[in-house]
Amino acid sequence: MPGIVIVGAQWGDEGKGKITDLLAEQADAVVRFQGGNNAGHTIVRDGETFKFHLIPSGILYPGKWCMIGNGVVVDPKVLCEELDGLRARSMDISGLKLSANAHLIMPYHRLLDEAGEARLGKLEIGTTRRGIGPCYSDKAARLGIRVQDLLDGKILKKKIMAALEPKKLTLRPYERDPRLDLQSMTEEYLTYGHRLEQHIADTTSMTHKLLDDGKPVLFEGAQGTLLDIDHGTYPFVTSSNPVAGAACVGAGVGPKDIDEVWGVTKAYATRVGAGPFPTELDEEVGEGLRQKGGEFGTTTGRARRTGWLDLVALKYASRINGLTHLAVTKLDVLTGQETLKVATRYRGEDEAIFETYPYHQSVLHHAHGEYEELPGWSEDITEARSESDLPQAAREYLDYIADFVGVPVALIGVGPGREQVIWTETPSVTTPVSAS
Ligand code: IMP
Repeated sequence: MPGIVIVGAQWGDEGKGKITDLLAEQADAVVRFQGGNNAGHTIVRDGETFKFHLIPSGILYPGKWCMIGNGVVVDPKVLCEELDGLRARSMDISGLKLSANAHLIMPYHRLLDEAGEARLGKLEIGTTRRGIGPCYSDKAARLGIRVQDLLDGKILKKKIMAALEPKKLTLRPYERDPRLDLQSMTEEYLTYGHRLEQHIADTTSMTHKLLDDGKPVLFEGAQGTLLDIDHGTYPFVTSSNPVAGAACVGAGVGPKDIDEVWGVTKAYATRVGAGPFPTELDEEVGEGLRQKGGEFGTTTGRARRTGWLDLVALKYASRINGLTHLAVTKLDVLTGQETLKVATRYRGEDEAIFETYPYHQSVLHHAHGEYEELPGWSEDITEARSESDLPQAAREYLDYIADFVGVPVALIGVGPGREQVIWTETPSVTTPVSAS
């Protein structure tokens, strides 16, 4: 039985939380495999709104395992707050398991993130300033503090000391900042250790056991393909790999354990932070989409940049991830647009045409979408529950996407509620669709 990966096929904020929540109903476990509390997702369940940054979406189902994998960077303060919030709403949190090998975001990571952005000035990346990049840097430099270190005061203090040493110069402006006091930092993190101890586990072997017993496991990615540190719009990317292949590393499974890869895309495009965005709209339509789609960040509240759907980028994302299914969210936000545009190629400097996603940063920075125009619709589609309830133009829009990308649309979002979806295919491993 299946291992299903869910990834963002754009620049994040595609609505992965809702799709994971829906697919989680049929799974035994949800495993988050990368990113940290730079992500944020909102789930509306029975009229109640839940916002998570770290906890996988499946937590709302009692009796399922919800794992934070080794590939995630964990701010323990944020995790404790999320758990407290769920406890206060009498939710069962016993299924939450935290990999002992996941790395911890420390106070100096947050300060370094701030300082790094300030230093870049106009060239800033527009990070969430949650300390994500510096934490992954320490992991690669082998100076990271891991969840398991929280359980041993001596080791914890020694490791914090070693991690702080090479940062002294950069952190000089914060020399007397109480947030950098070694003793109180160690004590604070030991407290998190006590609070989280019951959740700390070997999530990798738990996942192996589930898969070996034939139980369905969902691997939940954060951010999106175009924010991937290797395959995205570097350097305007996050510091991890949100692509499907990273599920293997960030959860500790092999490629053979993955049977399906679901790519989530909005029916249009958004991006937060700086970096190239070939289909960006800067006139009225852009603001209209922002307001209608509520395009403001869950994590930072920043207004998202909005644009038409970029099929060049989506096709690239499909290939990089090996998508077998597409979930198209927020189709209802496009209702009322007389004409819809989709970018099918790019025009760059000197009128150069690009049929595929350009690898070179300078090319991408100058690229603009070349569009196909498709008819819009004006009918309210928020009550549609099957494809046949959709207006002809909406069906044609979805068909165009599926044909261009070469991956079937399996799920369509027509409103924020979890029931506001149309299933066109159920998740199953019996007939995986090739992503070529
Ligand atoms: P960082 O991940 O905080 O280092 O930010 C790097 C880039 O990724 C910035 O452009 C952020 O706006 C973007 N980013 C990080 N997490 C998310 C997310 O969950 N959704 C959308 N953009 C994100």
